[in-house]
Amino acid sequence: MDTIEKIKSKVRGYISEKRFIHSVGVANTAVYLSKIWGGNSGKLFVAGILHDVARDMSAEKLIEIAEKNGYRIDEVEYANPVLLHAPVGAIIAKSDFGITDEEILNCIRYHTTGRKDMSLNEVIIYVSDFIEPSRNFPDAERVRAIADKNLREALLEETYFNVCYLMNKRMPIHRRTIEMFNDFLKKELTKTQIKI
Ligand SMILES: [Fe+2]
Repeated sequence: MDTIEKIKSKVRGYISEKRFIHSVGVANTAVYLSKIWGGNSGKLFVAGILHDVARDMSAEKLIEIAEKNGYRIDEVEYANPVLLHAPVGAIIAKSDFGITDEEILNCIRYHTTGRKDMSLNEVIIYVSDFIEPSRNFPDAERVRAIADKNLREALLEETYFNVCYLMNKRMPIHRRTIEMFNDFLKKELTKTQIKI
């Protein structure tokens, strides 16, 4: 694995300046949330910096890399290929940045759709992506305030917003997002109950 400074400078070659600022915001927010909720701040920082490494790639490129690496693209991902930036981001984090830690890779892989049985680190990256400081729309500000007090509720509110947005645009909802939502309706999310 490259050093964190090397990762930071290298990731700039993959994404726009605006996206880089967002990524640093996610990394810092994830570390901040880990002070409240637990989680591994070192892994979270790396995951935050790298989570959107594939976000500026074209749909064609995302599909090409996913297929070449044996990732099984499902019909929702074909309909909305931007979703692939998360699993393809994990592929690139491994191949180009030498990240082998599965926990970091899973934070990147599932940061957009979420999934059932998310780890605390995965939840923190998922929520940080929505509330980092450069996200300044009212719903982000509302969820930011919730995340300090109840991380599970922040995740559910964020998911509600994302699903409504997709439905409004008549875009399909990924099954992993529904599975995550249903999963968190059943369980609490505290540092003692979620294993990291
Ligand atoms: Fe992303």
